[in-house]
Amino acid sequence: MNLLEKINESANYILSKVEFKPSIGIILGSGLGDLAEKIENPEVIKYDDIPNFPISTVEGHKGRLILGELENKKVIAMQGRFHFYEGYPLEDVTFPIRVMKAIGIEIIIVTNAAGGANKDYKPGDLMLITDHINFTGRNPLMGRNIDDLGPRFLDMTSSYDKQLIEIAKNSAKSIDVDLKEGVYMWFTGPTYETPSEVRLARTLGADAVGMSTVPEVIVARHGGMKVLGISCITNMAAGILDKPLNHEEVVETSEKVKGTFEKLIRKIVRN
Ligand code: 6GU
Repeated sequence: MNLLEKINESANYILSKVEFKPSIGIILGSGLGDLAEKIENPEVIKYDDIPNFPISTVEGHKGRLILGELENKKVIAMQGRFHFYEGYPLEDVTFPIRVMKAIGIEIIIVTNAAGGANKDYKPGDLMLITDHINFTGRNPLMGRNIDDLGPRFLDMTSSYDKQLIEIAKNSAKSIDVDLKEGVYMWFTGPTYETPSEVRLARTLGADAVGMSTVPEVIVARHGGMKVLGISCITNMAAGILDKPLNHEEVVETSEKVKGTFEKLIRKIVRN
């Protein structure tokens, strides 16, 4: 089976489980997956049950799709994603995005946990992604282009949709959330950056650093979907504070922020 056939088979399987077509896709980042449990009239589909989906490995990430209603909108949420650092090829990392496009998703909200490179940020801040930097040398569109999926040479000028950014800013204001705006830089991980790499990132214009999102956004844009990106700054990146990093802080902070995060996503979805 070629990629196109695989995408369609997965999409048809998912659509066979529900009587509606979701219009908004949501990818929930590390520690932010609880929002998926709030989706009403949920249909839960484990990644392992979807034909052609990558086999999910990481513990703590639940690895399932939840379809249902959020703020009276039909949504499909990914609880857990596939990371490049887990060893998946980028084609697998981004496969769920292709499938979302195939089931008719036009708007996708991508979220993640990220390290703050901007010294004005603090752990617990939420950041609207206005642009990204991909200096990994990797790109999910490398290889033969499938013209039915999108163009060979993709414009990345307004990858994060201006209209959605406005909606997100207004939504944040209306619920008194101090939503930061900044540039997200993708590092492959699984190591956190060195202090020198973080200084480099800052010099290049990055406000946050993370291990996901960019491949998915590239593929979403390839498919012509509108993208909104939100980072949860779970910790300051290496070298900004005089202390080592650890995954426990990432988990702890996202746990603390998840109430605000949920409120914000709800408002955005409603608007
Ligand atoms: Cl400091 N770096 C990266 N790459 N990802 C992160 C992070 C830092 N903090 C949370 N996720």
